[in-house]
Amino acid sequence: MAKGKNFSAVAKTWDEKPQRVKLAAAVATAISENIPLNRQMEALEFGSGTGLVTFHLHQQLKHVTAMDNAAGMLTVVEEKALAANVDNVTTRHNDTTIPSLAPESYDLIFSSMVLHHVGDIDSTLKALIAGLKAGGVLVLADLALEDGSFHDNDQGVEHHGVDPVCLIDQLHEMGLMNAQSVIVHRIVKQRGLEQHTYPVFLVWAYKE
Ligand SMILES: C[S@@+](CC[C@H](N)C(=O)[O-])C[C@H]1O[C@@H](n2cnc3c(N)ncnc32)[C@H](O)[C@@H]1O
Repeated sequence: MAKGKNFSAVAKTWDEKPQRVKLAAAVATAISENIPLNRQMEALEFGSGTGLVTFHLHQQLKHVTAMDNAAGMLTVVEEKALAANVDNVTTRHNDTTIPSLAPESYDLIFSSMVLHHVGDIDSTLKALIAGLKAGGVLVLADLALEDGSFHDNDQGVEHHGVDPVCLIDQLHEMGLMNAQSVIVHRIVKQRGLEQHTYPVFLVWAYKE
């Protein structure tokens, strides 16, 4: 379970914040532009929330499993799939902190704004990589390192962003290849009289 924040409690109203919807659209666009997606791909979104990114991408994929450890988030995914008659998005509850995936099951594993909520990033990445098929791609979007001001009252986050350069090194050390990164979005928040800008990166790398 992510430290502190009760994501199930905010699931029903999650999509009401336009900045979340905009960010998810930017992440999905960047995934489509940088990763060759196709209708044969079996995909997993880790930390899907309400599926904001998944519902942008599912038509370009064979199937997406939306995984989250907040059951409330997955209920929203199921409601959206039903309402839109989407039959290639299903949910899976992650009831452990580190996901346990059947080995070599996915062509694409993606995640947006989740890693900074995860205590043990190293073990989480290893678990995700284990679930990738040979030739599969891991795609991670997250807040770049920030000064701690992004989350009001800290909300129990585990990390103040993630350094994409270190993440790329980590993925190469774990055996992935051709890791790359781009900035895909900038979240702007008003702090008193000042505006703070928080870049969001996309990092991706391939399993041999
Ligand atoms: C900031 S939200 C992002 C949700 C969604 N990806 C989006 O972009 O709207 C982080 C999500 O990650 C989920 N999460 C955090 N740690 C997790 C874990 N260990 N396993 C599965 N989901 C996790 C939370 O429940 C939450 O839904």
